[in-house]
Amino acid sequence: MGNNLIPLRIAGVGYSLPETVITNEDLTKLYDTSDEWIYTRTGIKERRVVSGEENAIDLGYQAAKNAIEKSGIDIEELDLILAASSAPPDLYPAIACHIHQRLGIQRQIPAFDITAACSGLIYGLSIAKAYISSGMYKNILIVATDNNSRLVDWTDRGTSILFGDGAGAMVVTASEDGVDDVIAIDIKADGNYGNLIELAFDGKNCPLVEQYEEKPKGIRMNGRGVYTFVAKILPHYVEELVAKAGMNADDIDYLIPHQANIRIIQAVQERLGYSDDKVVTNIKYYGNTSAASIPIALAESVEKGKVKLGTTAILCGFGAGMTWGGAVVRLREGIC
Ligand code: COA
Repeated sequence: MGNNLIPLRIAGVGYSLPETVITNEDLTKLYDTSDEWIYTRTGIKERRVVSGEENAIDLGYQAAKNAIEKSGIDIEELDLILAASSAPPDLYPAIACHIHQRLGIQRQIPAFDITAACSGLIYGLSIAKAYISSGMYKNILIVATDNNSRLVDWTDRGTSILFGDGAGAMVVTASEDGVDDVIAIDIKADGNYGNLIELAFDGKNCPLVEQYEEKPKGIRMNGRGVYTFVAKILPHYVEELVAKAGMNADDIDYLIPHQANIRIIQAVQERLGYSDDKVVTNIKYYGNTSAASIPIALAESVEKGKVKLGTTAILCGFGAGMTWGGAVVRLREGIC
């Protein structure tokens, strides 16, 4: 390798989805819309949503358990838990701390959340890579979980059509054979575009200081603005990432992108010159599950046999912030 950095192995991936399905047809009971309008603009037909007491912690816990089982790593060997979420049920304790407790881990290890919206899994992988490379930690669990159905404004037909709930997880470890499964990784943010997707926290001022002012409720999104921003930067960004990996697009087997809008996915696909069988899409059934969307797409496509192992893939995503990121990874046998 020519340096002292420790390579990373992706040891296991898993996912979890709530059972309740909401179809586009169902949404016509809430507002004036149609299956045709939603499907042609987004590629979404239905999405899953939590019900009752179920929340992002439950989904994240299931996905984590799944990924840990696949990895063959004992829970007491985990050195760090990272949770990526933009829809936590509480501001604290962190979801990562809840997952630590739910898994029944006895060791006291660090656990914290990352707020990078839909780029959360890539941000988590990048953080995990830095810790593993340096030798600081060996085994890291990354959980990406969101339940945006509790945060969207269900009267806003421009936004609530897009989101669904779900969780994905990845266990990464120090590679024993010198091969790094993260061939290239990059994360970015530009806060100047922060107002494209916002979710205000409804904190109240002290009444002795000033009158409390009601904040707007639910996710507020400039859909057209997001689309224009992402369509402009992402295809070129992914191309640069492939170059950073020292590869040509043809050398890489799959594109496993964030599932936000089928037209954005197709723009990246076209730039890479990929045929449909190289591109993983499940947006039709789950909508945009935020941080969870990449790991769900990865784990499900392997489970269903669409993605073969012993291959390579480009992961890429973007979200509120604006944040974005991508990775070229190796998918070894046994991860799922
Ligand atoms: N059904 C029917 N009509 C709808 C509608 C719906 N669900 N939502 C919006 N409309 C209407 C609007 O009111 C508007 O009507 P008007 O022209 O009479 O004012 C018209 O459709 C066009 O609205 P616009 O918001 O410009 O539509 P669009 O073509 O940009 O599509 C999105 C909207 C949200 C589907 C699209 O912008 C998008 O997917 N953007 C990316 C968002 C994204 O990826 N966010 C997540 C980031 S992680």
